[in-house]
Amino acid sequence: MGKSIGFKCARCGAEVELASSDYDCPKCSGNLLVQYDLTGLKRRLKRSDVEGGALDGIWRYRELLPLDSSKYASPLKIGGTPLYRSRGIADELGLRSLYIKDDGRNPSASFKDRAGAIALARALERGEKVITGASTGNAASSLACLAAGTGIRTIIFVPKAAPVAKIAQLLVFGATVIAVDGTYDQAFDLCLQATAEYGWYNRNTGYNPFTREGKKTCAYEIVEQLGWKCPDKVIVPVGDGNIISGIWKGFLEFHALGWIDRLPQLIAVQGGKSDAIACALESNGQIPTVSGETVADSISVSLPRDGDAAVTAVRDSKGFAVRVADTEILESIPHLARREGVFAEPAAAAAVAGLRKAYAEGRIASDETVVVLITGNGLKDVASAMKTVGAPRVIAPEMAALRQLNLGS
Ligand SMILES: Cc1ncc(COP(=O)(O)O)c(C=O)c1O
Ligand SMILES: [Zn+2]
Repeated sequence: MGKSIGFKCARCGAEVELASSDYDCPKCSGNLLVQYDLTGLKRRLKRSDVEGGALDGIWRYRELLPLDSSKYASPLKIGGTPLYRSRGIADELGLRSLYIKDDGRNPSASFKDRAGAIALARALERGEKVITGASTGNAASSLACLAAGTGIRTIIFVPKAAPVAKIAQLLVFGATVIAVDGTYDQAFDLCLQATAEYGWYNRNTGYNPFTREGKKTCAYEIVEQLGWKCPDKVIVPVGDGNIISGIWKGFLEFHALGWIDRLPQLIAVQGGKSDAIACALESNGQIPTVSGETVADSISVSLPRDGDAAVTAVRDSKGFAVRVADTEILESIPHLARREGVFAEPAAAAAVAGLRKAYAEGRIASDETVVVLITGNGLKDVASAMKTVGAPRVIAPEMAALRQLNLGS
């Protein structure tokens, strides 16, 4: 393992030595991108070296991951999530090739397990005793899940309004949970201060360059699951922008290795008032601070922490951003569930809302191959799902009561 050769800054482009930082750019504090000797890898590595059974996990990509060995690879099944060919939504919209990548099927039920696995392995390689992170909920519950049994302590900062299932996961997996009476952005800053004061290893999204390395594996899988073909469009729900920049990096690396001959367009879906990256894309690329309000807690972000890399990813892919309102997000939860059998949390359902909007606006063609990324399972936030579906009918346990409902045959 461990073919990484250094970092490159996503903001100023500086090349940074691997040994000099596990965090941001020493020159401009921009986020760092892990670099590989892709030319050397192209000579040495064959597609068959990484090819797995359809459901193999991320460790088969070890040659493209920044770890020294597989010693700290989690034994849990991370990645290798299903890519379903859509029937219901594809038919309804008239899309010929629509796919749903269900990353809610990871061990802690979100995409974040891909990132947590790499950041945690890195911390364990360094002999760290404590790993910390701020999170809207999923990154943290993932870290707590993957750290179980490894001996490292997890200290987690979440906004106190995080969905109860995510807090329950943290507590059940044994994390020390600090519920911050404030926003995700405030929890993030507090976590950075705590890291500086106590010297803990920090996994914060974007700030720690290794999270992106796990996230890119999703792009690798999509290519392989499509029979080593690149889709035309990939639709990604975006908060900090680390998932979308990771996905882009994955496609770029497979392209550099010669394993795909083109690149997809990325569509960034944001909540209506949590739209800093959409705003940046529509202006000069500067990331503004926005209110961050959206029903989709996982993408509720005022100041995206991986904004530069996300804007670059969408621009370089010739993609675009779509804003979706709370009502559109909530409606998409039962919409996706009833047509495809996949239960998504609000942030993930936002991607479906984004698909419908972009298609209605004529920005997706019916013959394109489109992948929608479902980043978190619906059981993570049942309260939001219940807002759209009403309550069940309660009856006495008697046939007479049942007959009164006129269910018919
Ligand atoms: C379910 C889900 N979807 C989307 C996102 C957005 O990812 P990012 O913040 O990297 O843009 C997150 C991040 O927490 C998430 O948990
Ligand atoms: Zn820099």
